[in-house]
Amino acid sequence: MRTELVTTIAHIRELISTARRGARSVACVPTMGALHAGHGALIERARAASDVVVVTIFVNPIQFDRRDDYEQYARHLDADRKFCDARNVDIVFAPSAEEMYPGSIATLVEAPDLARHLCGAFRPGHFRGVATVVAKLFNIIQPDTAYFGEKDAQQLAIIRQMVRDLNFAVDIVPVPTMREPDGLALSSRNQRLTPEQRRMAPTLFRALTEGQRSIAGGERQAVKVKAMVLHVLESEPGVRVEYVEIVDPRMLPVDYISADVRLVAAVWFGSTRLIDNLLCRTAESAKP
Ligand code: PAJ
Repeated sequence: MRTELVTTIAHIRELISTARRGARSVACVPTMGALHAGHGALIERARAASDVVVVTIFVNPIQFDRRDDYEQYARHLDADRKFCDARNVDIVFAPSAEEMYPGSIATLVEAPDLARHLCGAFRPGHFRGVATVVAKLFNIIQPDTAYFGEKDAQQLAIIRQMVRDLNFAVDIVPVPTMREPDGLALSSRNQRLTPEQRRMAPTLFRALTEGQRSIAGGERQAVKVKAMVLHVLESEPGVRVEYVEIVDPRMLPVDYISADVRLVAAVWFGSTRLIDNLLCRTAESAKP
């Protein structure tokens, strides 16, 4: 196998400093494993642009607000390693929780203004856990570039802000959302859907697409677009809506749509929570 599995911080630091001595560029793709084609898209982008590609696989305990969610999170290290090997990844960094958090952690990274709404309002401490672990991974690996999916748009906005605010020397590259043929965004959580829920799940994409269409058609009142999206979602029995929102590029909610916005939503199908979002262009901004 070409891909080297590394589990300690000391070892990855050694490999990275060797790469640096050879003036080789380093890309990092942070993940929590259970790799699917969405992660694959990030890896392929990284592979095409860098000498050394490091995929991190770490189910980060401090970003889970529910213990059952942490415990149920899919863990398939052998399959993930093969997945990375097939895509010519150089290093899989898969530390244990003890390696990453040897004692209790007393320093945390937080972006309160960006984290208090949308997912942050419903998952207390989640983005603090994400920002903290990504900061740790950046300090351990010191990548030139790091790849993040637009599927988790609020996470992406928070990481970008963190990189600016704390002067990390890393370029953040956003990657568009990969979807199933019926529109459902790929997610490791999709595996938890029952066959019935899986049939209903594309409603989320359908509802967002209708909202996107109304914005392209000239609707400017966020409240009207949100009502339309909610109507589509609520017409499907078994769907529980957590939020539907329209946000600017920093992921802050807007009332009036005057430029490109993102339509974002989180819904529950039974005990499985799915999120998705679509970039919505106004008719004016879509003009060449
Ligand atoms: P995870 O959910 O494993 O996702 C890892 C990366 O893959 C994220 O940047 C996410 O946005 C991207 N991704 C997931 N599904 C995608 C899809 N369908 N299309 C494109 N990209 C997709 O996000 C995390 O892990 C964690 O919070 C992490 C950043 C690793 C910190 O622990």
